[in-house]
Amino acid sequence: MNGAELYKKKGCDAVIAVGGGSPIDCAKGIGIVVSNEQHILEFEGVDNVSIPAPPLICIPTTSGSAADVSQFAIINDTKRKVKIAIISKKIVPDISLCDPVPLTSLTSDLTAHTGMDALVHSIEAYVSNASSPVTDIQALESIRLISAYLPLAYHNPDHIGYRYKTMLGSLLAGLAFSNASLGAVHAMAHSLGGLSDLPHGECNALLLESVIDYNFEVCPERYETIAQTMNVDCSSHDPQEIKQKLLSALQALRTELGITERLGDLGVSRENIADLAKSAIRDPCLATNPRKPTVSDLEHIYEGAL
Ligand SMILES: [Fe+2]
Repeated sequence: MNGAELYKKKGCDAVIAVGGGSPIDCAKGIGIVVSNEQHILEFEGVDNVSIPAPPLICIPTTSGSAADVSQFAIINDTKRKVKIAIISKKIVPDISLCDPVPLTSLTSDLTAHTGMDALVHSIEAYVSNASSPVTDIQALESIRLISAYLPLAYHNPDHIGYRYKTMLGSLLAGLAFSNASLGAVHAMAHSLGGLSDLPHGECNALLLESVIDYNFEVCPERYETIAQTMNVDCSSHDPQEIKQKLLSALQALRTELGITERLGDLGVSRENIADLAKSAIRDPCLATNPRKPTVSDLEHIYEGAL
Protein backbone atom coordinates (compact mmCIF):
# COMPACT_ATOMS: atom_id res chain seq x y z
CA MET A 1 0.00 0.00 0.00
CA ASN A 2 2.97 2.31 0.70
CA GLY A 3 4.44 1.42 -2.68
CA ALA A 4 1.17 2.33 -4.43
CA GLU A 5 1.12 5.67 -2.64
CA LEU A 6 4.71 6.38 -3.71
CA TYR A 7 3.91 5.32 -7.30
CA LYS A 8 1.11 7.91 -7.50
CA LYS A 9 3.06 10.62 -5.68
CA LYS A 10 6.02 10.31 -8.04
CA GLY A 11 3.86 10.03 -11.18
CA CYS A 12 5.32 6.65 -12.21
CA ASP A 13 4.09 4.85 -15.30
CA ALA A 14 5.54 1.34 -14.90
CA VAL A 15 7.02 -1.00 -12.26
CA ILE A 16 10.32 -2.91 -12.47
CA ALA A 17 10.72 -5.76 -9.96
CA VAL A 18 14.14 -7.25 -9.18
CA GLY A 19 14.30 -10.21 -6.80
CA GLY A 20 12.52 -13.38 -5.75
CA GLY A 21 8.82 -14.07 -5.28
CA SER A 22 8.21 -11.53 -2.52
CA PRO A 23 9.37 -8.36 -4.33
CA ILE A 24 7.76 -9.49 -7.60
CA ASP A 25 4.42 -10.18 -5.86
CA CYS A 26 4.74 -6.84 -4.08
CA ALA A 27 5.19 -5.15 -7.49
CA LYS A 28 2.06 -6.94 -8.80
CA GLY A 29 0.19 -5.71 -5.72
CA ILE A 30 1.36 -2.12 -6.23
CA GLY A 31 0.16 -2.26 -9.83
CA ILE A 32 -3.40 -3.43 -9.10
CA VAL A 33 -3.83 -1.15 -6.09
CA VAL A 34 -2.83 1.81 -8.29
CA SER A 35 -5.11 0.94 -11.22
CA ASN A 36 -8.16 -0.16 -9.20
CA GLU A 37 -7.82 2.20 -6.21
CA GLN A 38 -8.74 -0.59 -3.78
CA HIS A 39 -7.02 -2.06 -0.71
CA ILE A 40 -4.70 -4.98 -1.56
CA LEU A 41 -6.68 -7.45 0.59
CA GLU A 42 -9.85 -6.82 -1.47
CA PHE A 43 -8.34 -8.75 -4.41
CA GLU A 44 -8.07 -12.06 -2.51
CA GLY A 45 -9.20 -15.12 -4.49
CA VAL A 46 -9.67 -15.87 -8.18
CA ASP A 47 -10.48 -13.21 -10.81
CA ASN A 48 -11.15 -10.32 -8.43
CA VAL A 49 -9.04 -7.77 -10.32
CA SER A 50 -11.14 -5.55 -12.64
CA ILE A 51 -8.58 -3.18 -14.19
CA PRO A 52 -5.16 -4.46 -15.38
CA ALA A 53 -2.02 -3.18 -13.62
CA PRO A 54 0.39 -0.75 -15.35
CA PRO A 55 3.32 -2.34 -17.25
CA LEU A 56 5.42 -4.68 -15.08
CA ILE A 57 8.95 -5.81 -16.00
CA CYS A 58 10.49 -8.59 -13.86
CA ILE A 59 14.10 -9.59 -13.35
CA PRO A 60 13.95 -12.78 -11.23
CA THR A 61 16.96 -13.52 -9.00
CA THR A 62 15.79 -16.95 -7.80
CA SER A 63 14.82 -20.09 -9.72
CA GLY A 64 11.76 -20.88 -7.65
CA SER A 65 8.70 -18.69 -7.42
CA ALA A 66 8.13 -18.17 -11.16
CA ALA A 67 6.24 -15.07 -10.03
CA ASP A 68 7.73 -13.39 -13.12
CA VAL A 69 5.46 -15.46 -15.41
CA SER A 70 2.57 -16.45 -13.15
CA GLN A 71 -0.92 -15.09 -12.53
CA PHE A 72 -0.39 -15.47 -8.78
CA ALA A 73 0.54 -12.97 -6.08
CA ILE A 74 0.93 -14.17 -2.49
CA ILE A 75 0.48 -11.40 0.05
CA ASN A 76 0.95 -11.72 3.80
CA ASP A 77 -2.11 -10.51 5.72
CA THR A 78 -0.29 -9.65 8.92
CA LYS A 79 -3.54 -9.08 10.87
CA ARG A 80 -5.16 -12.46 10.09
CA LYS A 81 -1.69 -14.09 10.06
CA VAL A 82 -2.30 -15.84 6.76
CA LYS A 83 -0.79 -15.56 3.31
CA ILE A 84 -3.58 -14.76 0.86
CA ALA A 85 -3.52 -15.73 -2.82
CA ILE A 86 -4.51 -13.25 -5.53
CA ILE A 87 -5.04 -15.13 -8.79
CA SER A 88 -5.80 -13.19 -11.97
CA LYS A 89 -4.60 -13.08 -15.58
CA LYS A 90 -4.45 -9.29 -15.07
CA ILE A 91 -1.32 -9.64 -12.91
CA VAL A 92 0.75 -11.70 -15.36
CA PRO A 93 3.91 -9.57 -15.89
CA ASP A 94 4.47 -8.01 -19.32
CA ILE A 95 8.17 -8.83 -19.65
CA SER A 96 10.38 -11.27 -17.76
CA LEU A 97 14.15 -11.06 -18.20
CA CYS A 98 15.45 -14.50 -17.16
CA ASP A 99 19.22 -14.56 -16.75
CA PRO A 100 21.02 -17.25 -14.72
CA VAL A 101 23.87 -14.94 -13.61
CA PRO A 102 22.01 -13.37 -10.62
CA LEU A 103 21.31 -16.91 -9.32
CA THR A 104 25.00 -17.30 -8.48
CA SER A 105 24.45 -14.81 -5.63
CA LEU A 106 21.96 -17.13 -3.85
CA THR A 107 22.94 -18.74 -0.55
CA SER A 108 22.80 -22.55 -0.47
CA ASP A 109 19.62 -22.44 1.67
CA LEU A 110 17.87 -20.15 -0.81
CA THR A 111 19.01 -22.32 -3.72
CA ALA A 112 17.54 -25.38 -1.98
CA HIS A 113 14.28 -23.79 -0.80
CA THR A 114 13.45 -21.93 -4.02
CA GLY A 115 14.45 -24.94 -6.15
CA MET A 116 12.16 -27.24 -4.16
CA ASP A 117 9.37 -24.65 -4.55
CA ALA A 118 9.78 -24.91 -8.33
CA LEU A 119 9.71 -28.72 -8.20
CA VAL A 120 6.50 -28.63 -6.14
CA HIS A 121 4.98 -26.22 -8.70
CA SER A 122 5.56 -28.70 -11.51
CA ILE A 123 4.43 -31.76 -9.51
CA GLU A 124 1.25 -30.01 -8.33
CA ALA A 125 0.51 -28.68 -11.85
CA TYR A 126 0.97 -32.19 -13.29
CA VAL A 127 -1.50 -33.86 -10.87
CA SER A 128 -3.87 -30.84 -10.85
CA ASN A 129 -7.44 -31.52 -11.94
CA ALA A 130 -7.05 -28.50 -14.26
CA SER A 131 -4.00 -29.90 -16.06
CA SER A 132 -3.99 -30.17 -19.86
CA PRO A 133 -1.75 -31.79 -22.50
CA VAL A 134 0.06 -28.44 -22.89
CA THR A 135 0.73 -27.89 -19.16
CA ASP A 136 1.75 -31.58 -18.86
CA ILE A 137 4.61 -31.05 -21.34
CA GLN A 138 5.85 -28.02 -19.38
CA ALA A 139 5.44 -29.70 -15.99
CA LEU A 140 7.25 -32.93 -16.93
CA GLU A 141 10.18 -31.14 -18.56
CA SER A 142 10.41 -28.96 -15.47
CA ILE A 143 10.45 -32.03 -13.17
CA ARG A 144 13.19 -33.58 -15.34
CA LEU A 145 15.35 -30.44 -15.30
CA ILE A 146 14.96 -29.62 -11.61
CA SER A 147 15.41 -33.15 -10.27
CA ALA A 148 18.56 -33.59 -12.39
CA TYR A 149 20.16 -30.15 -12.07
CA LEU A 150 19.09 -28.69 -8.71
CA PRO A 151 21.54 -30.90 -6.73
CA LEU A 152 24.31 -30.00 -9.22
CA ALA A 153 23.56 -26.27 -8.90
CA TYR A 154 23.44 -26.64 -5.11
CA HIS A 155 26.91 -28.23 -5.01
CA ASN A 156 28.36 -25.99 -7.76
CA PRO A 157 26.75 -22.58 -7.09
CA ASP A 158 28.87 -20.65 -9.62
CA HIS A 159 28.22 -23.03 -12.53
CA ILE A 160 26.17 -20.96 -15.00
CA GLY A 161 25.16 -24.05 -17.02
CA TYR A 162 23.54 -25.74 -14.00
CA ARG A 163 21.93 -22.48 -12.87
CA TYR A 164 20.52 -22.01 -16.39
CA LYS A 165 18.86 -25.45 -16.24
CA THR A 166 17.26 -24.74 -12.84
CA MET A 167 16.05 -21.35 -14.09
CA LEU A 168 14.53 -22.96 -17.19
CA GLY A 169 12.93 -25.61 -14.95
CA SER A 170 11.43 -22.91 -12.75
CA LEU A 171 10.17 -20.95 -15.77
CA LEU A 172 8.47 -24.04 -17.26
CA ALA A 173 6.92 -24.86 -13.87
CA GLY A 174 5.57 -21.31 -13.75
CA LEU A 175 3.98 -21.63 -17.19
CA ALA A 176 2.46 -24.97 -16.14
CA PHE A 177 1.00 -23.86 -12.80
CA SER A 178 -0.16 -20.49 -14.07
CA ASN A 179 -2.64 -22.43 -16.22
CA ALA A 180 -3.16 -25.70 -14.28
CA SER A 181 -2.90 -24.07 -10.82
CA LEU A 182 -1.52 -25.87 -7.77
CA GLY A 183 -2.76 -28.09 -4.96
CA ALA A 184 -2.76 -29.04 -1.29
CA VAL A 185 0.99 -28.52 -0.71
CA HIS A 186 0.66 -24.85 -1.60
CA ALA A 187 -2.63 -24.36 0.25
CA MET A 188 -1.02 -25.81 3.39
CA ALA A 189 2.28 -23.94 2.90
CA HIS A 190 0.47 -20.60 2.55
CA SER A 191 -1.24 -21.25 5.84
CA LEU A 192 2.09 -22.15 7.51
CA GLY A 193 3.83 -19.12 6.02
CA GLY A 194 1.13 -16.82 7.37
CA LEU A 195 1.35 -18.28 10.86
CA SER A 196 5.05 -17.87 11.38
CA ASP A 197 6.55 -16.41 8.18
CA LEU A 198 8.54 -19.57 7.46
CA PRO A 199 10.36 -19.83 4.08
CA HIS A 200 7.76 -20.82 1.46
CA GLY A 201 9.95 -23.32 -0.40
CA GLU A 202 11.05 -25.04 2.80
CA CYS A 203 7.40 -25.42 3.92
CA ASN A 204 6.59 -26.98 0.53
CA ALA A 205 9.55 -29.35 0.74
CA LEU A 206 8.48 -30.53 4.20
CA LEU A 207 4.83 -31.07 3.20
CA LEU A 208 5.31 -32.63 -0.25
CA GLU A 209 5.79 -36.26 0.80
CA SER A 210 2.81 -36.23 3.21
CA VAL A 211 0.55 -34.73 0.52
CA ILE A 212 1.67 -37.28 -2.10
CA ASP A 213 1.01 -40.05 0.42
CA TYR A 214 -2.57 -38.67 0.73
CA ASN A 215 -3.19 -37.93 -2.98
CA PHE A 216 -1.53 -40.98 -4.54
CA GLU A 217 -4.54 -43.32 -4.65
CA VAL A 218 -6.63 -41.03 -6.87
CA CYS A 219 -4.05 -40.70 -9.67
CA PRO A 220 -1.36 -43.41 -9.33
CA GLU A 221 -0.56 -43.35 -13.05
CA ARG A 222 0.26 -39.61 -12.91
CA TYR A 223 2.63 -40.16 -9.98
CA GLU A 224 4.20 -43.10 -11.84
CA THR A 225 5.01 -40.75 -14.75
CA ILE A 226 6.51 -38.25 -12.29
CA ALA A 227 8.63 -41.03 -10.77
CA GLN A 228 9.81 -42.16 -14.24
CA THR A 229 10.71 -38.55 -15.09
CA MET A 230 12.85 -38.43 -11.94
CA ASN A 231 14.60 -41.63 -13.08
CA VAL A 232 12.97 -43.79 -10.40
CA ASP A 233 12.79 -47.47 -11.40
CA CYS A 234 9.09 -48.17 -12.11
CA SER A 235 9.53 -51.51 -13.91
CA SER A 236 7.33 -53.38 -11.40
CA HIS A 237 4.30 -51.16 -12.22
CA ASP A 238 3.11 -51.97 -8.69
CA PRO A 239 1.47 -48.73 -7.42
CA GLN A 240 2.37 -49.23 -3.76
CA GLU A 241 6.00 -49.99 -4.60
CA ILE A 242 6.21 -46.98 -6.93
CA LYS A 243 4.68 -44.72 -4.28
CA GLN A 244 7.31 -45.78 -1.74
CA LYS A 245 10.14 -45.38 -4.27
CA LEU A 246 8.91 -41.90 -5.28
CA LEU A 247 8.63 -40.81 -1.63
CA SER A 248 12.15 -42.14 -0.95
CA ALA A 249 13.55 -40.32 -4.01
CA LEU A 250 11.98 -37.02 -2.88
CA GLN A 251 13.26 -37.52 0.65
CA ALA A 252 16.77 -38.26 -0.70
CA LEU A 253 16.62 -35.13 -2.90
CA ARG A 254 15.67 -32.79 -0.05
CA THR A 255 18.21 -34.43 2.27
CA GLU A 256 20.92 -33.83 -0.32
CA LEU A 257 19.80 -30.18 -0.37
CA GLY A 258 20.16 -29.92 3.41
CA ILE A 259 16.40 -29.84 4.13
CA THR A 260 16.30 -32.40 6.90
CA GLU A 261 14.05 -30.79 9.54
CA ARG A 262 10.42 -31.57 10.25
CA LEU A 263 7.71 -28.94 10.79
CA GLY A 264 8.08 -29.41 14.55
CA ASP A 265 11.74 -28.33 14.31
CA LEU A 266 10.59 -25.05 12.72
CA GLY A 267 8.42 -24.20 15.73
CA VAL A 268 5.08 -25.64 14.54
CA SER A 269 3.28 -27.43 17.36
CA ARG A 270 0.27 -29.71 17.69
CA GLU A 271 -1.78 -26.77 19.07
CA ASN A 272 -1.31 -24.86 15.76
CA ILE A 273 -2.73 -27.63 13.59
CA ALA A 274 -6.47 -26.84 13.92
CA ASP A 275 -5.92 -23.20 12.91
CA LEU A 276 -3.53 -24.15 10.09
CA ALA A 277 -6.05 -26.60 8.61
CA LYS A 278 -8.92 -24.08 8.94
CA SER A 279 -7.06 -21.48 6.90
CA ALA A 280 -5.66 -24.02 4.38
CA ILE A 281 -9.16 -25.32 3.56
CA ARG A 282 -10.10 -21.80 2.33
CA ASP A 283 -7.02 -21.42 0.08
CA PRO A 284 -7.91 -21.27 -3.64
CA CYS A 285 -5.01 -23.64 -4.48
CA LEU A 286 -7.00 -26.46 -2.89
CA ALA A 287 -9.66 -26.30 -5.64
CA THR A 288 -7.34 -28.07 -8.13
CA ASN A 289 -5.87 -30.68 -5.76
CA PRO A 290 -6.67 -34.09 -7.32
CA ARG A 291 -8.24 -35.36 -4.06
CA LYS A 292 -10.70 -33.18 -2.12
CA PRO A 293 -9.62 -33.10 1.52
CA THR A 294 -11.71 -32.35 4.61
CA VAL A 295 -10.39 -30.17 7.44
CA SER A 296 -9.59 -33.33 9.37
CA ASP A 297 -7.65 -34.77 6.37
CA LEU A 298 -5.56 -31.58 6.34
CA GLU A 299 -4.97 -31.86 10.10
CA HIS A 300 -3.82 -35.43 9.56
CA ILE A 301 -1.39 -34.37 6.77
CA TYR A 302 0.07 -31.61 8.98
CA GLU A 303 0.52 -34.16 11.76
CA GLY A 304 2.34 -36.47 9.34
CA ALA A 305 4.88 -33.71 8.64
CA LEU A 306 5.32 -32.54 12.26
FE1 LIG B 1 5.35 -21.85 -4.61
